[in-house]
Amino acid sequence: MDLDVVGRLLSTLPADDDHPYRTGPWQPQTTEWKADNLEVVQGEIPTDLDGVYLRNTENPLHPAIQNYHPFDGDGMVHVVGFRDGTAFYRNRFVRTDGLALEQDAGKSLWAGLAERPSQSLMDHGWGARTRMKDASSTDVVVHNGVALTSFYQCGDLYRVDPMTAETLGKETWGGTFPFDWGVSAHPKIDDATGEMLFFNYSTEAPYMNYGVVDANNELVHYTPVPLPGPRLPHDMAFTENYAILNDCPLFWDPEGLAQGAYAARFHPDMPMRLGVIPRRGGPDDIRWFDAESTFVLHWVNACEDGDEVVVDGFFESDPAPADNGMGDKWQRAFRFLANDRMQPRLHRWRLNMVTGLCKEESLTDTISEFGMMNGSHAGQKYRYAYAATSKPAWFLFDGLVKHDTWTGQEQHFRFEDNVYGSESAMAPRVGSAAEDDGYLITLTTDMNQDASFCVVFDASDITVGPVCTLRLPERISSGTHSTWAAGSDLPDWAHVDDPATAVGL
Ligand SMILES: [Fe+2]
Repeated sequence: MDLDVVGRLLSTLPADDDHPYRTGPWQPQTTEWKADNLEVVQGEIPTDLDGVYLRNTENPLHPAIQNYHPFDGDGMVHVVGFRDGTAFYRNRFVRTDGLALEQDAGKSLWAGLAERPSQSLMDHGWGARTRMKDASSTDVVVHNGVALTSFYQCGDLYRVDPMTAETLGKETWGGTFPFDWGVSAHPKIDDATGEMLFFNYSTEAPYMNYGVVDANNELVHYTPVPLPGPRLPHDMAFTENYAILNDCPLFWDPEGLAQGAYAARFHPDMPMRLGVIPRRGGPDDIRWFDAESTFVLHWVNACEDGDEVVVDGFFESDPAPADNGMGDKWQRAFRFLANDRMQPRLHRWRLNMVTGLCKEESLTDTISEFGMMNGSHAGQKYRYAYAATSKPAWFLFDGLVKHDTWTGQEQHFRFEDNVYGSESAMAPRVGSAAEDDGYLITLTTDMNQDASFCVVFDASDITVGPVCTLRLPERISSGTHSTWAAGSDLPDWAHVDDPATAVGL
């Protein structure tokens, strides 16, 4: 491995930190690495794996003003690139406005998710609740050849070089970016059209907007999606002709909001509503469907089937688990991050555009979340979802599961104890002939070896174990979302001898 340190950021976190989401498998990194010719510790890098796996992670650099929440940490993008049977790695912090100001101040300036906005030292900020730092740490997608990082509660989109992980600046869409509301995490990429679909939300009417950016990176559609009040949507879905937005009955308590408190409450007596809007439609075109009460954090995919719009996502049996007195104070405080408590299961909603009725069914008994699929099937009929299983009581992924939505069959792969994976992206093989003809890529945080690895599986059968395992320069923090971009989708990929050193392209 050819290794260089390219950056190191100031951290003021105490050496005796005891917060479980800033230590152990969530211990933040401060070093930025440039590594070429990654060491192959097992197997062989497939020569038909060509492109980049990107993963966003949270890496806090300063103690919280009062209470740290793992979604407050600063965004860091990891890139593992594959070409000609070799691999390179880069990791860089996303150079957000908030990161720069807090580096200068040497401390946290904004209150996080587990704190009140009034505790912020700054009178401005980002996020649907306002006065938060936009850490750009939640999601990463690739659109128009550039990676875009985003923040779960709406903020800027930061343009990141998908080969070097360098921040290129904020997305503006030629001056049309909705900086007043920002954009939520989980903009969606339609490979078939090159479009990116997105939404945002706020505590002010109409409470949600939906928009479309075309393949040339121009905002071509932006419309209000009126809701009954402030909501906390996290993800959306789309089909060839429609976007699917949601109104889940888990939202900030209106009485608390009036007092400046942002406490989310689940209303099991209210239905979940799914809104189907033509991709270029307006508020009057939205069709709302009532479904069983739940909160859906992530959707996997949607498609059209005759008169029906079919949406797959993770139904939570208990979106607001009560404090049952089990576990230590951290486990109790962060029970909303524990999938064994919320019990998300892959689920299918069928929305009949003729009758206006919704039929729904659970697709499995297995608890999983963070579902990915072959991106070339996004918005279209598909078969396979690749999701993560979780360590009980913790936001840590202890295994992978491949769901066959046609047969209900599953494949499982479980990491060793004390080894945790990431959201795992499906990378179609070059010249791929079938939906699962490719690789499943994940990054591990290995507490046994105090190391991290990029692990590549054959997506057609994850049970046989890794195709190859590559050592990263150091142990990385656990985190949230990831994506895959084929080299053929990156404009500069084919024009440089070494994409890993194509700085500034
Ligand atoms: Fe998410």
